[in-house]
Amino acid sequence: MRINIVAGNWKMNTTVSEGVKLVSEIVEKSKDLSNVKLIVAPPFTHIYSVCEKLKGTEIGLSAQNCASEEKGAYTGEVSAEMLANLCVKYAIIGHSERREYYKECSEILLKKTKLALANSISPVFCVGENLNEREENRHFEVVRKQIEEVVFNINENDFEKIIIAYEPVWAIGTGKTATSEQAQEIHAFIRKVLSEKFGKKAENTSILYGGSCKPSNAKEIFAQPDVDGGLIGGASLNADDFIAIAKSF
Ligand code: PGA
Repeated sequence: MRINIVAGNWKMNTTVSEGVKLVSEIVEKSKDLSNVKLIVAPPFTHIYSVCEKLKGTEIGLSAQNCASEEKGAYTGEVSAEMLANLCVKYAIIGHSERREYYKECSEILLKKTKLALANSISPVFCVGENLNEREENRHFEVVRKQIEEVVFNINENDFEKIIIAYEPVWAIGTGKTATSEQAQEIHAFIRKVLSEKFGKKAENTSILYGGSCKPSNAKEIFAQPDVDGGLIGGASLNADDFIAIAKSF
């Protein structure tokens, strides 16, 4: 059985004290939620303090990234092992901002994915096309390649731990959202591609939608059969909006 997930990607926002306040509000307001798993992904600097606030709750803690190397002389990097040691259970890998601004290619993303899994961290692996690719009707081809180059290179047991986030780059932080039909069409395609390699196991993979998801559009998007939740950027910085999105199932 696949689970519904709403994950908040805080990106490079909030100070530690603001982040602690935000997560405290989320804990408080999420008490009556039952059919959805909440995950928060604060910046690295907040991980320890946020972890303390999440103790005794069902809310999962995610990193926004992890290093592609195990340990050693990699100034400025944070390893999967360090994160696992701080009760981090998820890591966003391959977000389009990492692909675009930090030139993270599939080869690097595969290393990150494998290291996360080796440390019992579930990757939230992001795929998605940019505006040009969508306009040229190449979105299926682009997303297939992103999946084949990374997800197809992990073993079947590890595959069970992967969460996929489909995030059309043209919808991230732009206020433009994919229509629920567009989301369903590509989510179903992603599941089909996954099933080519992993068979029936793909039925259990949670595939999240991301890109200007907010309380006003979440219900319609989440109602689609192959949309199992959302990866939320901007709207996850407000506890009321984040919880309202989680209540859209
Ligand atoms: P957005 O970001 O909700 O602000 O569009 C989504 C994401 O990048 O994960």
